[in-house]
Amino acid sequence: MRILTGIQPSGKLHWGNYFGAMKSMFDLQAKGEEIFMFIANYHAMTTVRDGATLREMTRDVALDYLACGLDPEKSIVYRQSDVKEVQELAWFLSCLTPMGLLERCHSYKDKMAHGFDATHGLFAYPVLMAADILIMNADLVPVGKDQKQHLEVTRDLAQKFNNAFGEIFKLPDAYIPDSVATIPGTDGQKMSKSYHNAIELFEPNGSIKKKVMGIVTDSKTMEEPKEPEGNSIYELYKLFATPEEVAQMAASFRAGNYGYGHAKKALLEAYHRLFDPFRAKREELAKDPDTLEDILKAGAARARAAAAATMEKVRAAVGL
Ligand code: ADP
Ligand code: TRP
Repeated sequence: MRILTGIQPSGKLHWGNYFGAMKSMFDLQAKGEEIFMFIANYHAMTTVRDGATLREMTRDVALDYLACGLDPEKSIVYRQSDVKEVQELAWFLSCLTPMGLLERCHSYKDKMAHGFDATHGLFAYPVLMAADILIMNADLVPVGKDQKQHLEVTRDLAQKFNNAFGEIFKLPDAYIPDSVATIPGTDGQKMSKSYHNAIELFEPNGSIKKKVMGIVTDSKTMEEPKEPEGNSIYELYKLFATPEEVAQMAASFRAGNYGYGHAKKALLEAYHRLFDPFRAKREELAKDPDTLEDILKAGAARARAAAAATMEKVRAAVGL
């Protein structure tokens, strides 16, 4: 099966990105699936307005992917902008996209609510996302729950195209394990780069500790028994810890004499256990920008070959 996902380099990646999208990719890579993982830098232009910043964040996301487990020998990693054909396909799809379909997308309304400029790029972005997916003939797309609607748009556009021009596109499925559908941030809302509630994957140790210790809780005293389900610290701990450790924390909360401070300390330790090796690897990779560039160029060549094969059929079908 062909598995594809992308993340926008619009800020530093955080725990929500890792568990919502990246980890599924690495798990599927380990099962021998065919992985396409790209850095959605065209998408990031909807919010980033500075070339140097975009370039640096694009490189940072590539380093994050590789440090956390993307294996460029087995999988294809590329910058979205290295496959310019996606822009062409986005236009073809645009011509079949009903305005109402985009008007219904939550992500646009959310971004408006958070003060982003109402641009055509932001509005039309689900069409570009559909092009990213369809051009590579992906079967499965690991994403967080917030992206589910965009997968529905993608399937809808694929179907409209197929109805008009013949069976060209596969209908891809979102891949959203229940356990990672929506990861809470330090304020209990969905963790997001734009909501100032994210714990970054690779921020300095001191600041990770500060954020974990600052996770918002209710005001129950240490002595009081507490219900763990729905508590952000416990929900985050479930992502990092073994089932036995999770059961232990749940029992401690319910028994009482176990405070939020204790749970935060356990969470921080579990983060370090998983991420300290990734941190070391990232430091090594960052020392060698030429190798990183070579990996991205090799990935782009493979991705472009897949895109070109699709576009040949698509152009013929539409009459170009
Ligand atoms: P952000 O909301 O921080 O800007 P993105 O929209 O760039 O994150 O998301 C990149 C990927 O990470 C998407 O697949 C998205 O669904 C996933 N993701 C982001 N935040 C979360 C979260 N809090 N829980 C689950 N998945 C998430
Ligand atoms: N829209 C996704 C996000 O904001 C990023 C993205 C762009 C994507 N193209 C994609 C994800 C294709 C999966 C597949 O998170």
